[in-house]
Amino acid sequence: MVLDHYNRPVKDLRISVTDRCNFRCTYCMPLDEYEWIDKKEILTFEEIARLASLFVGLGVEKIRLTGGEPLVRQNLDQLVAKLSAIDGLKDLCLTTNGALLAEKIDALKIAGLKRLNVSVDTLNPEKFTRMTKRGDLKKVLEGIFAAKQRGVKRIKLNAVIERGVNDDDIIPLVEFSRENGFAIRFIEYMDVGNANNWTSAKLVPKREILDKIMSRFPLTEVGRDQGSAPSVDYEFVDGRGDVGVIASVTEPFCSSCTRIRLTADGKVVSCLFSQTGHDVKAQLRGGASDDQIAGFLRSIWTARKDRYSSERLEALRTSNYDPKSRKKIEMISLGG
Ligand SMILES: C[S@@+](CC[C@H](N)C(=O)[O-])C[C@H]1O[C@@H](n2cnc3c(N)ncnc32)[C@H](O)[C@@H]1O
Ligand code: SF4
Repeated sequence: MVLDHYNRPVKDLRISVTDRCNFRCTYCMPLDEYEWIDKKEILTFEEIARLASLFVGLGVEKIRLTGGEPLVRQNLDQLVAKLSAIDGLKDLCLTTNGALLAEKIDALKIAGLKRLNVSVDTLNPEKFTRMTKRGDLKKVLEGIFAAKQRGVKRIKLNAVIERGVNDDDIIPLVEFSRENGFAIRFIEYMDVGNANNWTSAKLVPKREILDKIMSRFPLTEVGRDQGSAPSVDYEFVDGRGDVGVIASVTEPFCSSCTRIRLTADGKVVSCLFSQTGHDVKAQLRGGASDDQIAGFLRSIWTARKDRYSSERLEALRTSNYDPKSRKKIEMISLGG
C-alpha cells in the first residue's frame, strides 16, 4: 500500500476531463471567460485510461469523472468504456450538472456507467437560472429522470448551500429526493479557487443544515462511507432514504482524505486547495515507461502533506483567515 506523509492511502481518483462548462455557477465559475486549456494540451482518452490503470496499481479503487462539465467533452462514453474495463477498479462515477444527461445517458449506460451525481442547488426555476447563469432546471430534471428511467440505480443529488441564496431550498430538496428515491448530499460552500469571492458569511455550516432537516425529518447518523468519504451520512428514521453533508469547512476530513486529482491537461493535484500540480503529461508524451510513470505518481503521493481544510479551520477560529492570501487552482481545472 502506498501511504502519504500522514499514513493516508490513495484510494480515490478524480479526473477532470475538461475545464469547460455550459453553466457559470456563481460559487464555482462566475466569470464568462477564462483562459481555457488549449485543445492539444488536453489528455486523450488513451492517456487518461493509461494513467487511471497505473493509479489502480497504486491502490485506487474509485474513479470519479468530473470537470468543468464532463458531458461537454465529446464521446465521453468512450472513456467510460475504457475505464470500466480496468481490472481492480471497484467503482466508476460521474458528477454532472445534468444539462446534457437526457441525450447522453443511453450511451453512458451501455459503456458501463452505474453511478451518477447530479448537482441541483434549487428547485426554483428562476433561482436555478440565476445561480447557474446559463442553466435550465427543466433540462436538468429531464436528465435526472431519464437516468432513473434507464435503470441507473444510485443517483445522488449534490447541492451547495449559500447563505441568503438557497438556504431556504434545503427542505424542498430533501422532500424531492425522498419522494423520488434519490440520495442527497448538501455541500458547505467552500473557498475553492479565488474567483468566487468566498467569505465565511456566505457559508451555511453543517450544524445549521442538519438542524433544518431534523426539524422536519428525524435522522440517525450512519457515518462516512468506507470511513473516508467526504460526506457524513444520515438515514431518515422512517426508512425513506438518506441524506449527507460534506462539511469541508466546519468539520474538515483531511486526516482521512484518500483523494487525488488529475486535471484535464495532465497535472496531478494532491489537494482540492493546492496551488500547483505535478506535470505527468510531460512524462506520458515524452515516452516514459509504465514503471517510470508509476514511480512518479508514487513519489507525489508519498510526499503528500496536505491538510488545508484543517489549517483553514484553525485560522478561521482565530479569525486570521484570508481566503485570497493563497492563489489556489480554480475548481473547473481541478475537478470537483
Ligand atoms: C466543479 S463541479 C464539476 C462537475 C459538474 N459540472 C457539476 O456541477 O456537478 C463538482 C461539484 O463541485 C461543487 N462545487 C463547485 N464549487 C463549489 C464551491 N465553491 N463550494 C462547494 N462545492 C462546490 C459543485 O456543486 C459540484 O457538485
Ligand atoms: S459547478 Fe459544475 S456546472 Fe457549475 S460552473 Fe462549476 S463546473 Fe460548471
